[in-house]
Amino acid sequence: MNHDQILIVLISAACAGGTALLGLAAVWFGLRRRSVRTLIGAVAVVAVAAVIAAMLGTAQAMFLSAHDFGVIVLVSVVAGVVGVAGAMLVGTAIARWSSSLTDEARRFGESGEFKNAPVGPAELQRLSEELARTSLKLQDSRRREDLLEESRRELISWVSHDLRTPLAGMRAMTEALEDGLADDPARYHRQIRSEVDRMVRMVDDLFELSRIHAGNLSLSLEPVLLGDVVSEALASADPVARAHGVRLGGAVDAGLEVIADPSELSRVVSNLVMNAIRHTPADGQVHVVGRAGGSGVELSVSDGCGGLAEDEMERVFDVAWQGSAARTPETGSSFGSGAGLGLAIVRGIVEAHRGTVSVANEVPGCRFLVSLPAG
Ligand SMILES: Nc1ncnc2c1ncn2[C@@H]1O[C@H](COP(=O)(O)OP(=O)(O)OP(=O)(O)O)[C@@H](O)[C@H]1O
Ligand SMILES: [Mg+2]
Repeated sequence: MNHDQILIVLISAACAGGTALLGLAAVWFGLRRRSVRTLIGAVAVVAVAAVIAAMLGTAQAMFLSAHDFGVIVLVSVVAGVVGVAGAMLVGTAIARWSSSLTDEARRFGESGEFKNAPVGPAELQRLSEELARTSLKLQDSRRREDLLEESRRELISWVSHDLRTPLAGMRAMTEALEDGLADDPARYHRQIRSEVDRMVRMVDDLFELSRIHAGNLSLSLEPVLLGDVVSEALASADPVARAHGVRLGGAVDAGLEVIADPSELSRVVSNLVMNAIRHTPADGQVHVVGRAGGSGVELSVSDGCGGLAEDEMERVFDVAWQGSAARTPETGSSFGSGAGLGLAIVRGIVEAHRGTVSVANEVPGCRFLVSLPAG
């Protein structure tokens, strides 16, 4: 590089650098919150001004003739105007894309649905894709919330129905007793007693379920022998099974331990066993098996219910869901509250123990499988 060239580089760097620095500082402090179109236009103006400043500086230093100098200035100004106009066009396009994205996002806020419209530069497209993904997630959680809300509403109406029916019966019976019109007072007393028991169980189930849903089911975990829990549940279910002609059987690996809350675990086992007896025809069999399996302990309850349909299997664990649409409380039933809460409670308790529960068909009935982690 000869001396002249070095001089040109130095002069143009100084003139262009100084102008660009001043211009960009002015843009930053004055315009950085303005529209992207103004910003891009301003940056283009600064770039053109830097080029013109460099040219003017070098032209002065090189002692160009007045005519040549005029030509250079004219060319620079024309090129600058064209450049700035081009930049403004790009800025306008970006501003339009971004405002259409803003409109789409506003609609998303109102309707919860976002239509992915990939326009504009990569960043805006990514933003649009991200919003579309968020919209899908939002729709999913809204759907789940709706289902939950619906099941809660159903629960309230069913529970009030299930409480109102026995209460009406009890009122009629107590009135008959009061008026001395009951022909068999002892039967009335027994019936009232069993209705009260059923309602107490229902209220107790509801309370348990509300504790599960509120997340304040406090478990007192300790090593529990699964065999003990199962034989207790079988022993207390035995009279009911006998009355229904159902055979009860069980086999649990000797010494099989699980870390669990003993009373909650026995609630799980007895809910499953009671359901199994209720859905097994006379002369059928209910079998409980406990063994080490998976990464912990597996407990299965098999019955003779004749199998569940695919959609029933999906819903059995839902709160207040009952297979037969008719919700007729079984008077004096020893099977539970009869409100469709049993399996929801089973799932809540098992999940609080970090376990899982599932159901599968297995001739001649179905099999509920509870898996609990080892410790
Ligand atoms: N072992 C089973 N075999 C076949 N169907 C079952 C079995 N256990 C439950 N179900 C079906 O799932 C439904 C819900 O069971 P869940 O135990 O939650 O309620 P419930 O037994 O009807 O009432 P609750 O347990 O509150 O007394 C039952 O109504 C029944 O249709
Ligand atoms: Mg039940």
